[in-house]
Order: sequence, then C-alpha cells, then structure tokens
Amino acid sequence: MCGIVGYIGTQQAYPIILKGLKRLEYRGYDSAGIAIYNGNDLGICKTKGKVADLQKKCEANIELEGSIGIGHTRWATHGEPNDVNSHPHYSNSGNLAIIHNGIIENYDSLKKELSNRGYTFQSDTDTEVLVNLIEDIKTKENVKLGKAVQIALNQTVGAYAIAVFDKTKPNEIVVARLGSPLAIGVGDNEYYIASDASPFIEYTKNAIYLEDGEMAVVRLGKEIKVRKIHDDSLVDPYVQELQLNLDQIEKAGFDHFMLKEIYEQPSAIKDTYRGRMLPDQGLIRMAGIDDNLERFLNAKRIVVVACGTSWHAGLVSEYIFEDLARIPVEVEYASEFRYRNPVINKDDIVIAISQSGETADTMAAIKLAKENGAFVFGVCNVVGSSISRETDAGAYTHAGPEIGVASTKAFTTQITVLSLIALKLGKAKGTISNSDFHMYLNELELIPYKIEKALESNEHIIKVAEVYKDAKNCLYLGRGFNFPVALEGALKLKEISYIHAEGYPAAEMKHGPIALIDEQMPVVVIATKKGHYEKVVSNIQEIKSRKGKIIAIVTEGDTAVREMADHMIEVPDTIEAFTPLLTTIPLQLLSYHIAVMLDKNVDQPRNLAKSVTVE
Ligand code: F6R
Repeated sequence: MCGIVGYIGTQQAYPIILKGLKRLEYRGYDSAGIAIYNGNDLGICKTKGKVADLQKKCEANIELEGSIGIGHTRWATHGEPNDVNSHPHYSNSGNLAIIHNGIIENYDSLKKELSNRGYTFQSDTDTEVLVNLIEDIKTKENVKLGKAVQIALNQTVGAYAIAVFDKTKPNEIVVARLGSPLAIGVGDNEYYIASDASPFIEYTKNAIYLEDGEMAVVRLGKEIKVRKIHDDSLVDPYVQELQLNLDQIEKAGFDHFMLKEIYEQPSAIKDTYRGRMLPDQGLIRMAGIDDNLERFLNAKRIVVVACGTSWHAGLVSEYIFEDLARIPVEVEYASEFRYRNPVINKDDIVIAISQSGETADTMAAIKLAKENGAFVFGVCNVVGSSISRETDAGAYTHAGPEIGVASTKAFTTQITVLSLIALKLGKAKGTISNSDFHMYLNELELIPYKIEKALESNEHIIKVAEVYKDAKNCLYLGRGFNFPVALEGALKLKEISYIHAEGYPAAEMKHGPIALIDEQMPVVVIATKKGHYEKVVSNIQEIKSRKGKIIAIVTEGDTAVREMADHMIEVPDTIEAFTPLLTTIPLQLLSYHIAVMLDKNVDQPRNLAKSVTVE
C-alpha cells in the first residue's frame, strides 16, 4: 500500500508531486506528506488525512519551492496515522529524506542497534529506522548515498519501494524496490518516480519499471544506472513506451470513479475480447494459452489463487471451467494457500487473478506454487505489474485503470478472460461441440450491449436504494454461477456503505441464515431464468413467508417472481454461464447509490486501499 512520488528536473516539483499523490491516493489515504529541496534546506509539509488536507496545509508555504522533491500518501502499517508518522521521514542529521511503500520486518532489532549508537526517533515507523540506518552506513563507511542505500537494504528483511535523497547533494534521488512497485518516468532532462505511471503520464510516455531486487540512482543530466541490490551487478534498463492516456485516469464527468468504472464495463469487456475472440473464424486466440496449450490440455487440475473480488471471479470460473472444459478446479484464498502446506503437482495449473497485480498474498501464493513445480498463469489488469512479471504466462484483462477502491470492471473483465480460456480449452478438448462453441462466442460478443441495457435500470435502482439505505444488515442469495455474484454483491455493499451484508448460496439459507429473516431484513436474490430458477423461486417463497423484504434480480419479462418480490430489477437474458456478467451490474449500482445516499466516501472507503501490498 502507500503511494510514492518523486521529481527531479527543471520544473517546480511541488505541483507535480501533489497532483501525482492525488492520482495515487487509491493506494492509501490516511496521511500524506511532501519534502522539497528549496536550494537551501528541506521544505517539509506533512499531515494526517487526505492529499486535499495536505494541500491546504502546504498552500502558501514558500519553502516548498524547488525542483527536487518526494511525496507520499500513506496506508498505515507501523504507527497510527498522524502527522509525525506521515512520510517523508528524515535522518537524525536532517540531511536524508525518504519515502517508503512496504514494511521493514526486522525494524525493531535495527532500531535497538541504532538507539544504542545514539540515534533517536520521532515516529513509530519502520521507515524512520531505515533512513537512519542508511545515514549510519553512509557516515561510518564514508560511502555515497547509493552505496549506503544498497548496504542498508541488504541488512533489511521485508518489502519496499523507496526514494531517498540527500539535501547536501541535491542532484540525485536513489530508488529501490522489493515487493512493492516502482516506475521511473524518463523525461527531457527530468525524471519522475512513482508507484505507477499515472503521476507522470502527461509529462512522458517513457518509463522504466524496476524489477524486484533492483535499485537505481536517478541523477540529473545522467543516464539511469540500474543494478541488483544483492550483488551490485548492472542491469540494462528497459525503457517501455506507455499506452496509458490521461483521459483514462480522470472521472470524465461522473461523480465518482466507481460510477465511471461501472459504466465503462461494456467498452472494457470489448477491449478484453477484442483481437482474441474471432466468432467469424470460430477461433479464440490467446498467446499465453496458445504457447502452452499442451500443458493446459494435460492439466489434471486448475488451482485458482486470488483475494477479494478477484477471488469471487475465480469462483465464477470454477463453474465455467468445470462446465465447459471439464477440468476440476479449486479456488483458494491466496492468503490461506500461502501458509498451508498445499498439495501442488507438476500437472497442476495455477491461475493467479489480480486486478492490481501487486497483491502481496497472491504474489506469495504464486511463488509457493512455482517452488512446487506448478505452471502459473496470471490474469492481471495492470500491465507490467509484479504478478504479471512473476507468472510463467498470462492474459491481461485490458480493463483500463481502475481507480475506485471497490472493484467493478475488474470483476467482469476477469470473468471474460477466464471464459475465453475455458471456451478455448473446451473446444480443444472436445468437451463442447463446435456449434455450442459458436453459440458461446456469439453470445459473449453481445454481452457489452446487454450490460448497456442492464445499466438502463439505474433510475429504478436509485429508488430501490432509497428504500433500503438505512438497513443495518442485508442478505445476498444466489445459486450456481450466481452464488459468487451474491458474495460479490455483499462485499460491494459492505465495503462502501459499511452496512453489514452476507452472501450465501440460496439453498444454504435454510441451514442457518433463515433465522435472521424478519420484516427488517432486505434479501437480494439473484433469480435469473436459468439453471436453478425453480429452486430459487422456492427460496424466495420461504423468505416471503417470513416477511423478509425481497429485491429480486430477474430475467427481463419474468412474471413468477413479480408476485412475491418487493422490488424487481431486470437484466437481459443470456446463456447461464454469462449471467454473472449481467447480474452483477445492478448489485454494483445498488451499493453505489446506497453509499452515496449515506454520504460515504465511495471511491476511498475507510480502512481500505486499492492495492494490498502488505500481507
Ligand atoms: C473489493 C476489492 C478487493 C480486491 C482485492 C484483490 O472491491 O477491490 O477485494 O479485489 O484486494 O485485489 P487485486 O485484484 O488487485 O489482487
């Protein structure tokens, strides 16, 4: 978690860093800070709260004029969110300033050693320990900043993306990464440093992404030198040309990023299948699968590892893979998988799903699977992310940047990619007929238009949200392909409106949760006219006879549920396997509108961060 930004060049650093921090706020937003070298000394501004609070505090601070600086937006790990614990942190001499995303796990023992040598600490953070360790080494060993950083990092255990500079040598910033992302934007006689490319996209399209275990000295007027932290060997930096543009990371007239991203789903899904799905030719082309087709066809089992919403997409894929490709699937929380002693075989394919491509637990699960000889395939959204690089092969979702903390278009595009894979394997294995394959492809091509239709229920959903916005609890029920959608609907409501919600397979209700139902309990039931429709209708009757309030997500034209439900939200008809792509839309909108009515911070819900780079 945490977002870091740095600048060294000829422009004023403060506005660039401030704007960059606003773009990275999805990574953490409990405190923020900026340090600029003003030609004389370090101008410092830090505060508890959001980047907007930082801006208020920094305004009219002339000390923040200068063209080298660093900034940070924090998601607290060590030490509560307050002004003192905010980054940047300084060494005891006041010469070195650092920003850090990650955790130094052995900070306690390092702190004791440094304290014994007379160092004092203002904050409770691991980062202040690291900057003093660097200073200690620099002084004791009489080495340059880059060397001191390297020696210090070889003494640390943990994860980091850091940027450090020395006010007595204000023409360079030293950066390093292990387990947390770090990109360097290469401009014309200027460099940008950031957790991702969004802070510098309007200034340069050229970027170097450091790999884990690499560091660089970013010096004005010099080419960037990248080296391995552990053995000092030089690495040829690869300057990548970015495809991202500014429009993609702004709100485009929507009140919130979440709403914009909900509405982007039709185009995002088209971007996901474009060039891969060729219905006219009866083909699916995916390089990551084509290059490893034998391995996939011989797989005895697929193990999906993921967290949160991505885990829900994995659960949907379990139904899809088993149905279409007849491959057994297990779906694991990455955080549990990594600490079990899981049985993994060489014939297993592990699919890691992650929007950000930076989730620490998913990354650790991948490493464990690889150590055990499994082939790991990544489904990521962020191009060049750590997970996309760590996996043996993969497919990007191409959903475009997802800024709202609550995942929306990531979910539907992940399901799209996973459906394409299942269809491709099903066809190659002969577990689906050619005519069914064509029918699925044609239907998937129509899904974006059907989502557009589902989005037309927005005004109606606002009215439903109005009725239930003050509920204290909410149940979500679904069966088969739509059981994971019930889990996802409940997660969306919890995380942005802070209303307690639970998702259940509809038939499990009678094994416990039915006791919760009374006239106060809204129950969202996904009852599309597919699969277990009659069974779900029976579940609705059971809820009705206990006076629960029913919000039913139904197929267009449904009449049977109308008699029982308090509210109906219609979605277009589709093949059962693709119903999650439609039923999830009203659930996203319902959560969104309830959260807005409750005046919650939709894009940045409390205690959360977009990319969870700590375990
Ligand atoms: C919920 C949400 C989270 C993420 C989870 C995994 O709306 O966004 O549950 O899905 O933190 O993140 P990624 O997909 O980036 O690995």
